[in-house]
Order: sequence, then C-alpha cells, then structure tokens
Amino acid sequence: MYECRIAGTGRYVPEKVLTNTDLEKIVETSDEWIIKRTGIRERRIAAEDQSTSDLALEAARVALDRAGLAAEDLDAIILATLTPDTYCPAGACYVQNLLGATNACAFDLSAACTGFVYGITVGSSLVRTGVHKNVLVLGAETLSRFIDYTDRNTCILFGDGAGAAVLSRAEEGGDSRLLDHYLRSDGGGTDLIIMPGGGARRPSSHDTVDGKLHFLSMQGNDVFKFATKSMQTLIETAIERNGLSVDDLDLVVPHQVNSRIIDTVLRKVDIPEEKIYLNLQRYGNTSAASVPMALHEAVEEGRVQAGSLVLLVAFGAGLTWGYNLVRW
Ligand code: UT7
Repeated sequence: MYECRIAGTGRYVPEKVLTNTDLEKIVETSDEWIIKRTGIRERRIAAEDQSTSDLALEAARVALDRAGLAAEDLDAIILATLTPDTYCPAGACYVQNLLGATNACAFDLSAACTGFVYGITVGSSLVRTGVHKNVLVLGAETLSRFIDYTDRNTCILFGDGAGAAVLSRAEEGGDSRLLDHYLRSDGGGTDLIIMPGGGARRPSSHDTVDGKLHFLSMQGNDVFKFATKSMQTLIETAIERNGLSVDDLDLVVPHQVNSRIIDTVLRKVDIPEEKIYLNLQRYGNTSAASVPMALHEAVEEGRVQAGSLVLLVAFGAGLTWGYNLVRW
C-alpha cells in the first residue's frame, strides 16, 4: 500500500451573478428572508454556452497547475455531479477530451452533494492500492438547468460552479496524506431531494415535462433536520475514530448549504467559528462542487497550510453523507 495526498486544488465559477434582489423580481421572496434563513447573498449561473464539463475543465486546469502536473500525467478522472452534460456518455469523458488527458480513464460518480467526498475516497483508494499514481477528482454542477425558477423553496438556494483536487502518491517519509474516510447512505430517504423524471423509473414524456418532474424538488424542513444531524455525527465520528479533540482540527470545510445548519452544528460540537470555512454567502449551494470550491479558496487564502489537519464534511440526496480527514 502507498500513501495518498492532495497535490493541488482548483476552482471555477461562472461570471454571471444572480443576487437575492434579482430573485425578488422572479419569485415572492426577499433579500432579508433569504439572508436570515440561509446566509446566501448571491450565486453564480453558467452562461448559455457553458455546460458542467466546461466548468469542470477550468477547475481542473487550476488544480493541475497547483500540483505541477500536466494533463497527460493523469491516470483517472472522476467527476462527481448530479448535473452531467449527458447521462450517456459520462460527463467525465467530456472533461477528459477537453483537457487532453490522453492517458486517463474517466467516469462519473453520483452521490449528489456528498459526491466529492465519495470521489476523494474512491480516488485515494486507486492511488493507495497502486492502481493509479495521479487521479483528478472533480465536483461540478450546472444546477441552474435543473432548478424551477418559480419554486421559491429551491431557486434561492442553488448555484453553479466547479472544484477540483489532484490526488497523487505521497512521498515516502512525508506527513501530507489522506488519513481517514467515512461514507454512509440511507436509501430510505430517496424522496427528500429528488429529480423524479427522466430516469428508468419515470422516463421522459410530455407528462414528466408538464409535471416539472425534471427539476430538483426538496422537502426543505426534513432535509434541514437530516443535514444538522448528519453533520454533527460526521464531525463527532471523525474526532472519535482518530483519537482527536476539537482543538486538533485546524479547519472544517463543510458542504456549503445553509448558515443556520452550520451554526446549529457549531454549537452542538463546540467548534469555534473561525475553524469553519464558509463561502455560501457568495455561491449558495453548488452540490458536489461546494466542498472542493471552499477547500480551494481556503488553501489560496492561507487558511490551510503544510501540516494543517482538515476535515471535509458533506451530506446530500440519496441520502448520502461522509467525510475525508486530510493532513495537508
Ligand atoms: O444540498 C441539499 C441539501 N439541502 C438543504 O440542506 C436544504 C435544507 N433546508 C433549508 O435550508 C431550509 O429548510 C429552507 C431554506 C429551504 C427553508 O427554510 P425554513 O426556515 O425551513 O422555511 P420553511 O420551509 O419552514 O418555511 C417557513 C415560511 C413558510 O411560510 P408560512 O407557511 O410560514 O407562511 C414558507 O412558505 O417561509 C416561507 N418561504 C419563503 N418565504 C420567502 C419558503 N421559502 C421562502 C422564500 N422566501 N424563498
């Protein structure tokens, strides 16, 4: 077995900004309500000619640059997304082609907002077992294509973006490595966050289009309870399984979902606010892209440095939830 580390991170967001004030003109809501209930001020929206692979490509280029690698050095590309360019072929194949990663295999991973954390776990397993040396893990979404902008329960929350991490074999004797992974799911909660139409269960038809079944729907209150509980459990489990105390953690990078959920968890697990990285006010919830986007910003701002102990925490549709514990 080898050790695996994160060699570089990347992030890309589209230029177009959709503010709370813009949303006030579309649905019955207010800037004040959205900020108070979610913490979100604005989100990014992909241009008409941009798809998920285009956003992922830009994040991938930054991550490769930070890792000091070329596209040809990649052995695998894992794209975590719930909004791929197409369901067949995999979105990762578009990225592989755009990037010119001629030596890489490419596949998508579907675990909704937990997708990047699942992707890091799968990618690091490929590196640790010696199957591959360099694996690119992407979380990228164009959620704006799957949001009903007449539904105020969802349209205020979600945005577009992409994040990336290059996983590489760790140097012998170095401390930088992925320390622990923990993944869970509960298929009893499939109805809580769902795009019901277009799959084998409800194939696309005039009825599915008329019924708006191709849009993301969510039972917000139930998801809120699940999110709070799962995030608390994840942090407590990471601490317990690794013989840590809260003080040992330098930074927690949570799925950027709702500042009220995060505030509640902070109080329950007694973590000081400055140990949590938040950028949801600028991007909203970008599903699988949210953790890697936040991680990259934390790295670039110097909040993650050599030796830092970082916990990535996510939860989402499925239901799914999980963490990665990383020594930087
Ligand atoms: O990554 C996927 C994970 N997703 C999540 O984690 C989302 C978790 N859930 C949430 O973040 C929150 O449940 C929401 C932000 C979606 C909703 O906030 P809430 O505090 O749970 O509101 P609520 O659904 O209990 O609704 C309270 C009131 C209702 O009005 P009445 O019935 O009290 O008159 C809603 O109709 O707020 C109303 N409401 C709104 N008002 C203004 C719901 N959405 C809006 C809105 N603007 N956008």
